[in-house]
Amino acid sequence: MGQPTAVRAPGAWPVLGRAPALMRRPLRFLTSLPELGPLVQLRLGPLSAYIVTTPELTRQVLVTGAQDFERGRFSRKLTRTLGAGLATTSGQQHRTQRRMLQPAFSRTAVAACAEPMRSAAESVLSEWTPGRVIDINKAMDAYASDVVARSLFGSQVAAPAAVEFRHSLPGLLRDMVNRTLLPEWWAGLPTPGNRRAARDLARVDAAAHAAITAYRAADRGAGDLLSLLVAARDEDGTGLSDTQVRDQMVTFTLAGVETTGATLAWFFHELAHHPEVERRVLDEIDAVLGGRAPALDDLPALTETTHALLECTRLYASWIQMRRATRPVVLDGVELPAGTEVIYSPYLLHHDPRWFPAPEAFDPDRWNADRAGVIPNGAYVAFSAGVHKCIGESFAFLEAVTFAVMACQRWRLRPVPGAPVRPVATGVVHPKGLVMSVTPR
Ligand code: HEM
Repeated sequence: MGQPTAVRAPGAWPVLGRAPALMRRPLRFLTSLPELGPLVQLRLGPLSAYIVTTPELTRQVLVTGAQDFERGRFSRKLTRTLGAGLATTSGQQHRTQRRMLQPAFSRTAVAACAEPMRSAAESVLSEWTPGRVIDINKAMDAYASDVVARSLFGSQVAAPAAVEFRHSLPGLLRDMVNRTLLPEWWAGLPTPGNRRAARDLARVDAAAHAAITAYRAADRGAGDLLSLLVAARDEDGTGLSDTQVRDQMVTFTLAGVETTGATLAWFFHELAHHPEVERRVLDEIDAVLGGRAPALDDLPALTETTHALLECTRLYASWIQMRRATRPVVLDGVELPAGTEVIYSPYLLHHDPRWFPAPEAFDPDRWNADRAGVIPNGAYVAFSAGVHKCIGESFAFLEAVTFAVMACQRWRLRPVPGAPVRPVATGVVHPKGLVMSVTPR
């Protein structure tokens, strides 16, 4: 008998392998894989990769066997945009950065962000008027982008950079996804998309460098992430270069905007389609807060609201993440050589009926204490797990709850009839076509 091998996903194209299927219908393709087995081999262009389809194997890659993996091909492709920031580095370089950045995401630091989050929510909500029709995903991305700018790069001197980032972000995200899935030579072609991405990147770089220069000149601690980066010193007293600071700025802006923006957009979509959940959320907000805005300490009392948001992070989770084996590893009995690219997919795991019964249903009650206990460890990984677990998780929750509550206190969002909504996988899974009208409560 030979060595065990992984099942290959059928139907690959001669040159591009499974990349076209992944790019055309990624969500359907991914959710079809678990039936092939716990470990499935895929060909993506010239690259052979393995995808893990169970919580156990996902945990092995992210947590219990994390020492055998580094970031995969994704991060090399993303480096052009993100540089060597927290979301693209591995090993010691990543640990050093994580230690340096962690204070900006401590409980106290996140609690202090409630105020800029409220101001950002207020500035969006003050523009809503009865009957107005809103592209809610766009509005929520703008809110999330404003929150990152106000709380992480809070000084006014960074305001022009925030505007530039908001303008260029969607194109850069699209470019990053394309780069990741398509062969290297594709990214080198002078296509209109590639040329646009190069222009966006140049503008983002110039804006970031201008903000850093202004922060250094201001020479005062605004107490935000950018001040922390500008003031950071390693053991021998060396500070970060402008490029290193720029890399973190772009990383946090890209990692922190579309993710929270899409979660909030889905929240309003799901509430509008589940009136009885909406009723419970509104009653809870009124009972716990009356008319006041939430603070971090209010979150434990807002279970209906947080469970509805949590359920959105499950249903519409990140669809593809990668790691690379740094030494030979055994996954599900299959020996894989060093250098093997391994994919995990929160979306795939979250839509598997073995771990989440009726996975397509929006069911916030599955997070109630009596039911959540049966979800296997490693099955819910919306924020990942292990050394690369999202540093912004509690920040994102406070940010989402702040907007959800402040909007629900004043408005109800209703779907516009005849506007079809569908989940589309870009960097995250966002609601394409979601326009909603605003009705006073
Ligand atoms: C609903 C909102 C969010 C979701 C679902 C989410 C999800 C994730 C996931 C899945 C990862 C791990 C990626 C991997 O496996 O390599 C991650 C990492 C990361 N996230 Fe988030 N994220 C969210 C919000 C945020 C926010 C608001 C910020 C910052 C303000 C942020 C910053 C980061 C950073 C910097 C990393 C890299 C962490 C590291 O490798 O040490 N995220 N996020």
